[in-house]
Amino acid sequence: MNYVVGIDLGTSGVKCLLVDEGGKIIASAQTSYTPDFYPGGRVEQKPSVWWDNTLKTLKKLVEDNPPAKGKITAVATSGQMHSSVFMDKDNAVIRPALLWNDTRTTAQVKEIFELAGGADELLKMTCNLALEGFTLPKILWLKENEPENYEKINKVVMPKDYINYMLTGSLKTDVSDAAGTLLFDVRNCRWSEELCKKVGVSIDILPEVIPSTGIVGSVKKELCGEIGLAENCTVVAGGADNSCAAIGNGVIKKGQGVISIGTSGTVIGYVPEINSEVTGGVHLFNYSAPDSCYAMGCMLCAGEALNWTKRTFFENLSFDDLNVLAEKVPAGSGGLIFLPYLFGERSPHNDPNARGVFFGIFGGCEKGNIIRSVMEGVGFAIRDLYEEVVKFTALDEIFITGGGAKSKLWGQIFADILGVPLKVLNIEEGPSYGAAVIAIVGSGLAPDFESAKGSNVKAVREIIPSENTEIYKKIYPVFRQLYKSNKENFKLLIKND
Ligand code: XUL
Repeated sequence: MNYVVGIDLGTSGVKCLLVDEGGKIIASAQTSYTPDFYPGGRVEQKPSVWWDNTLKTLKKLVEDNPPAKGKITAVATSGQMHSSVFMDKDNAVIRPALLWNDTRTTAQVKEIFELAGGADELLKMTCNLALEGFTLPKILWLKENEPENYEKINKVVMPKDYINYMLTGSLKTDVSDAAGTLLFDVRNCRWSEELCKKVGVSIDILPEVIPSTGIVGSVKKELCGEIGLAENCTVVAGGADNSCAAIGNGVIKKGQGVISIGTSGTVIGYVPEINSEVTGGVHLFNYSAPDSCYAMGCMLCAGEALNWTKRTFFENLSFDDLNVLAEKVPAGSGGLIFLPYLFGERSPHNDPNARGVFFGIFGGCEKGNIIRSVMEGVGFAIRDLYEEVVKFTALDEIFITGGGAKSKLWGQIFADILGVPLKVLNIEEGPSYGAAVIAIVGSGLAPDFESAKGSNVKAVREIIPSENTEIYKKIYPVFRQLYKSNKENFKLLIKND
């Protein structure tokens, strides 16, 4: 029996998943670390921290699973997106990476819109709008603020590319991570020469791009021995964490999508071809499945909205208690509506000024109303993302995953607000499992994603929309109107902060 490892290189830790050649999960190992936070929204991480922890975790995984020793024939990595690793001519790291959640680049985002000739032009070239987190604003920030470091750049790559480089000595990226730089022409699947020219970034600093299932190289001989991998273990490119997570959650063909409720919330749909008008309401990135894209709506505060509610108002209650209280309240929470924009909002508003709101508080409002309205508010925001995603692809099989999907009540609320059935999956290892499946396909152990995952990913439960769908249909327009009516007020609020 041969094995592969899917590595999930995250912001707060790395996880390595051992999967057999038939797609069955055998074991996992993980370690955690914290990024370095600095004033002014700066978040950085040393690539050496990623590598040290990846090596340590890989070794532990093999040590704890002796039958896999010498039999791991391929690895692939799913990486945090957008974070910039600046490499010099000797492929040494120039400075710590600026992470996807670093927000120092507001001035550069503005500049990109101006240099590109406006939002519509940018969308034409890249299919995406500029965001502080993306890689291009970070490159421009370096150019303007640390010119001596900018001069040294030979290549800019993403975190998982750095891991692949350390394993093989070869520096490449894949289509899904390239797309998250904002310098990629997503439609034509190549670097956008036009945008590079407009923003004054040399195309030469961008790495070679291969498919997620493309081969970066073989693991260096001495590392194979040190970790316990098979000789010549293949390093398959892997991809952006959201792309890998969607693959891991079974989104591999037209009509499939996944909703993920973690700290943030995402709705992802497989897009075979971009045929609709691109407005920037959601991200459109190249996918890890062959010759396709995915539309991704990303809300910043999903599961975290309920965490915040518990922490702030109901510290002594458990999540089960919250569910029981919310269950007693009818759909619509008695007219209480919650806007979950505690950290501003990404999709579809792209508005850092947006804030959370409880609207419609009334005398008889009880704990359950507050809790249920928070769950519903996240549900309505997920519907906003869903509506944007289905502009690009009709979805007829939607999976739901993440911590928020564990609550039966919340799952039902999502299905009722969307008015579509949702399938709860048996898997929680989305990104690392996706990376493992990519490793299986890329190294030739299986011909395609469907056969690579086999029957290992499946729905354990289907949530069918209830009669509450009719109630939510009436409330959703009010939810939408509340953001519109308050957009300017949020701005005033921030100005006076
Ligand atoms: C996606 C994004 C995050 C990071 C987290 O656009 O910024 O999901 O990929 O790792």
